[in-house]
Amino acid sequence: MILKNKARIVTDQQPHINVEAVLTESERAALHDFMHHYPDPRAASLDSLKHVQKRNGWVDDAQVNAIAQVLGISIPDVEGVATFYNRIYRQPVGRHVILLCDSIACFLMGNESLADVFKKQLGIQYGQTTPDGRFTLLPICCLGNCDKAPSLMIDEDTYGLVSRAQVAEVLEQYL
Ligand code: FES
Repeated sequence: MILKNKARIVTDQQPHINVEAVLTESERAALHDFMHHYPDPRAASLDSLKHVQKRNGWVDDAQVNAIAQVLGISIPDVEGVATFYNRIYRQPVGRHVILLCDSIACFLMGNESLADVFKKQLGIQYGQTTPDGRFTLLPICCLGNCDKAPSLMIDEDTYGLVSRAQVAEVLEQYL
């Protein structure tokens, strides 16, 4: 399955959704809390998406709609944030998401060769998830760790100066 976070089709229509059926009580409470941190509720979109994503590892259309409804903003507003932010996933991902930086410093330090090792060891290409649901592999733009290129992230962990020989050792840490 190819994962595409981008190119979602959005419309101005705001279908009614039963928020209680989509978001848990604690999720709804968290969203209200985020909203009170900002003068404009749209600013709470990212916090809300991150929070809701914790439950299943990704955010589906119903959850985007429910977030918009709770925040009192449009679905395209929420969808726009979800599309812009690389780490909000709009399709199912594995238990662990590997993000390999493909920006210039990492490119110059051999990220393509490193990516080949990940692809070979996992048996998948960019945008795919391993059949056991353990890993999803995605490219990402600069992680801000350029002085330690090539860099990557797995979940919330950042790795730098990763060699081809270290890939297996890195993967072993994530079950
Ligand atoms: S270019 Fe890869 S971390 Fe900046």
